[in-house]
Amino acid sequence: MNIELTQDHVFQTYARQGRPFVKGEGVMLYDDQGNEYIDFLAGIAVCNLGHCHPDITAAIAAQAGTLVHVSNLFYTAPQAELARSLTEKSFADRVFFSNSGAEANEAAIKLARRFFQAKGEAHRFKIITMKQSFHGRTMATLSATGQDKIKKGFYPLLEGFVHVPFNDIEALKSALDDTVCAVMMEPVQGEGGVIPCDSEYLESVRQLCTDTGTLLIFDEIQTGMGRCGTLFAHESYGVTPDIMTLAKALANGVPIGAMLATEAAASGFDVGSHGSTFGGTPLATAAALGVVRLISEDGFLASVCEKGAYFMAQLNGLKEKHKKVVDVRGKGLLIGMELDVSKGKTASELMSECFKKGFIINAIQDKILRFAPPLIIGTAEINQLVAVLDSLLAGED
Ligand SMILES: Cc1ncc(COP(=O)(O)O)c(C=O)c1O
Repeated sequence: MNIELTQDHVFQTYARQGRPFVKGEGVMLYDDQGNEYIDFLAGIAVCNLGHCHPDITAAIAAQAGTLVHVSNLFYTAPQAELARSLTEKSFADRVFFSNSGAEANEAAIKLARRFFQAKGEAHRFKIITMKQSFHGRTMATLSATGQDKIKKGFYPLLEGFVHVPFNDIEALKSALDDTVCAVMMEPVQGEGGVIPCDSEYLESVRQLCTDTGTLLIFDEIQTGMGRCGTLFAHESYGVTPDIMTLAKALANGVPIGAMLATEAAASGFDVGSHGSTFGGTPLATAAALGVVRLISEDGFLASVCEKGAYFMAQLNGLKEKHKKVVDVRGKGLLIGMELDVSKGKTASELMSECFKKGFIINAIQDKILRFAPPLIIGTAEINQLVAVLDSLLAGED
């Protein structure tokens, strides 16, 4: 019934699978026929604390019964406290709240341009981004994105975006002239195939931006909120940006986005220069406050690193055993396994096989399996998935 309704009345922009889900609890999802699934995707890196975490549910319920929304023309406690908490825990001094990742990136793009225009340097409007990057689906973030396939049919895009190869400092150097206002990048490319930045590269990017007065924007929408084993992925590189964007896991499933900036970069915006009706609503920020508190608890991030290393080691074991696996890479609990799909099953077909066996994973570019489980996943569940992958890959040998 729900499947037909969706097919008849919802835009068919997603390739959906399975029966409708009716319940989520921890790392488990349940469909309307009582089938159970272990979730190794978490809504694509959204439900980092697991489904319906009791503390977050309680925070949402309490806020829903107190104050759901007021305009940003007024003050609210959850928004103020969340901004304090995020700035205390990061390089940033100020936060602008939005409702999604794309909107947070829109805000970052607008801030970078206005920062220079406010100083009378309107010629600095270009933004360099990386090939294979993903920054969202609005017109500006689509223009920023370095993947042609998702731009098809939407031309002309916004001007002023230059794409350079990822992890290639010489390419960045030659593109970075005095018309550039910002470099925008993901510390680990997610949609691009789970590709981590090289440490030396990121340090050189920071240095280059500092030397040329160019703003450095980190899109941590997928990598942030503990996903990569530190609260923000860039922490493990020892490199800080001028601007950072967050969304996805920030409120464990309640829509929210945030753009964080240093005081200097934030000076590009003043009263009336940007806004959002729902951005930073009490409901979403109350949930996010709970998320930040739980992720910051002693030992939580260390456990993400441990489980990430364990998972990666198990997948590397599969690589040694099965020729089809050509690479295993990632950071923390954002992991990609690249396959040789020249013969046998594609990544999407293997994903469907896993789904039939009760495991939710994801496929990118039809050759990479992506794993982004709730950060509360246990080694027992990791072992179960690895055993299933092992048997599926054995059929491919
Ligand atoms: C790195 C990155 N940036 C931006 C976005 C866009 O976020 P949203 O879908 O919330 O607009 C995504 C979503 O997958 C993402 O992974």
